[in-house]
Amino acid sequence: MNGIFISFEGPDGSGKSTQIALLKEYLENKGYDCLVTREPGGTKISEQVREILLDPANKAMGYMTEALLYASARAQLMHEVILPALEAGRAVICDRFVDSSAVYQGIARGLGVDEIYKLNAYATEGVLPQLTIHLDLPASVGIARKKDQKDLDRMEQEASSFHEKVAQGYRDLAKLAPDRIKTVDATLPIRDIHSRIVELVETVF
Ligand code: TYD
Repeated sequence: MNGIFISFEGPDGSGKSTQIALLKEYLENKGYDCLVTREPGGTKISEQVREILLDPANKAMGYMTEALLYASARAQLMHEVILPALEAGRAVICDRFVDSSAVYQGIARGLGVDEIYKLNAYATEGVLPQLTIHLDLPASVGIARKKDQKDLDRMEQEASSFHEKVAQGYRDLAKLAPDRIKTVDATLPIRDIHSRIVELVETVF
């Protein structure tokens, strides 16, 4: 595989989209052929699975169903978009990847981190990003930003204790894989966050 695979992770409202857009611009200015995609979603089928996952009406969804649906959306994205792009030598930036499942389903829902990585090994064909940027911020700040922007989806409507577990879960996960997952303080000004991300990205080229 010749391409470069970078994922962005963090609690809801941590500013991933803004930073991804800035990184894409940076990489394109350096001449890289860059593909940005997101999870759950990024293909027609995966976007349909996303609708099921985020629909606030689906309150009856079990945690294992949720984990399997995220993994199924991921399997389709991997097969249809990410693996072909990496094989073609492109730089792939993914807004969330398997670590979201490790944190949201494995830690916050309590299904277990190892169990979630095992389950997702089928979906990812064992491929992990070379670099994962973890945007760290207090859960309350992220959810307050989301509330200002739009109606909250099924995951965002979870109790604040759930979002606290997510924010802490990311910090714990980053400690388990320090070579791959790099934490950046998402409360800093946008340009400072971007500069830090560029420094980290330069280390994988
Ligand atoms: P996203 O649209 O990226 O939300 P945000 O813009 O707030 O980051 O992700 C949708 C939601 O799905 C988000 O609350 C995180 C959750 N999620 C999981 O619980 N598990 C997963 O594997 C993924 C990819 C996302």
